[in-house]
Amino acid sequence: MTKVRVTWPGGSEQELAAGKGRQLMEALRDNNTGVQGTCGGQCACGTCHVYVREDWAGRLPPRTEDEQAMLDAIGELVEIRPNSRLSCQIVVDDTLAGISVEIGPVP
Ligand code: FES
Repeated sequence: MTKVRVTWPGGSEQELAAGKGRQLMEALRDNNTGVQGTCGGQCACGTCHVYVREDWAGRLPPRTEDEQAMLDAIGELVEIRPNSRLSCQIVVDDTLAGISVEIGPVP
């Protein structure tokens, strides 16, 4: 398990454990953060949108074309920032220990 720090828009925080090799979205969804992951992690709904804290954003692999397309699509409805990511496209491993994300707005 890898520790992940979650922040809500109001500022409250929670630390939770995310299973290695699994999508970050699954840990967020399964720990009642409000993340729904409606498409099951298929990069097709945008309900797993998070803002990755700036000091972590550059340490992640870049967005794929599919992730970018989904962010562009939901960007018509919610604020997309340079550090916006779809948490289903982030696979948890040891390099993410301590990553910090804010729950983002969803369509
Ligand atoms: S769970 Fe649907 S886009 Fe991430």
